[in-house]
Amino acid sequence: MNIVETVEVDNFEKVVTLRDPETGYRGIIAIHSTKLGPAIGGTRFWNYPSEDEALTDVLRLARGMTFKNAAAGLPLGGGKAVIIGEASGVDRHAWFRVHGRFVDHFQGRFITGEDVGTSPADMEAAARESRFVAGFAGRGGDPSPWTARGVLRGIEASARQRWGSDDLRGKTVAIQGCGNVGLALARLLSDAGAKLIVADVDAARARACAQSCDATVVSPEEVYDAAADVFAPCALGGVLHEGTIPRLRAAIIAGAANNQLRTDRDALAIDARGILYAPDFILNAGGIISGGVYLLGETLAQLDQRVTGIYETLLAVYHWAEREKMTTAAAAEAYAEHILYGASATT
Ligand code: NAI
Repeated sequence: MNIVETVEVDNFEKVVTLRDPETGYRGIIAIHSTKLGPAIGGTRFWNYPSEDEALTDVLRLARGMTFKNAAAGLPLGGGKAVIIGEASGVDRHAWFRVHGRFVDHFQGRFITGEDVGTSPADMEAAARESRFVAGFAGRGGDPSPWTARGVLRGIEASARQRWGSDDLRGKTVAIQGCGNVGLALARLLSDAGAKLIVADVDAARARACAQSCDATVVSPEEVYDAAADVFAPCALGGVLHEGTIPRLRAAIIAGAANNQLRTDRDALAIDARGILYAPDFILNAGGIISGGVYLLGETLAQLDQRVTGIYETLLAVYHWAEREKMTTAAAAEAYAEHILYGASATT
């Protein structure tokens, strides 16, 4: 028997905690806003120490999706799901089918796909129960190559803003994390003529990336001190803080990782050091754009155009920050709010 409980949270349209005693599944779905359209956001599978921590995370992520989708120009709202548990110890297929049934309850008001800890195979299992699941072959595909492409466009826009040209030939980029996005980004940067420094806690991944892109490998700890023009965080969130910002030698921070700043104060510290920070949710929108475009029934050419447009969006954010004398992180939120609250409500 499935159990659903509603949690009242200010400024959220719907938040539900979910349980399936038969399989042991526990999860939360949070819909922050459907003002611009159906709420779209990935499903994260994580071994949260408590349900409170899972709730805090899903609320933060769902709100972030509203802003990301608005800034990306998508007619879609923001939501997120988390599944709570130790990934290795569960019947994944059964859990994701249960998850799919919960997603289906919303009948398209919430649409989900891959996120940290989930795979296209998980989404395929969930999709057996709901057509409101995307992010695998046949339904939007793997978002990572599009995320990487958007990050490349963002790095180019940042180079234009900082150095007056978006030509990356001869520039050095330090990539933290050689996973799905980091590896694809490394290849794109290498093709664009950039030199690469890479790091990963998984040494084999760093080595494989270095071999395919002629990069120099450094340890995960050393990557902050690397002699690079651009620092590209493509691993976990929360990596920019008082312990790491003073060590950076790059003139630009531009990467795919979600929620790179540990606190709002970190944006000010980056500014004070004269480093240009590319707000993560603007830069890494390529993945959600690829899912959104699938849902909207748009073509590959339209997808490419939208992801390419991250360049102009980021430049608009930089100009907003200059005009309003605010950090680029604050300007990105203001930019998204402007789109969001200027928009007419949809059903
Ligand atoms: P992934 O799990 O494929 O790759 C992450 C890589 O970072 C792994 O190779 C891991 O070993 C490494 N790593 C973890 N901690 C590290 C550390 N301290 N130092 C160095 N390396 C470390 O994840 P994926 O899909 O490449 O995503 C990367 C980031 O981009 C995540 O923060 C994700 O939330 C974000 N993102 C990804 C999108 C996508 O389309 N995949 C879309 C938007 C954001």
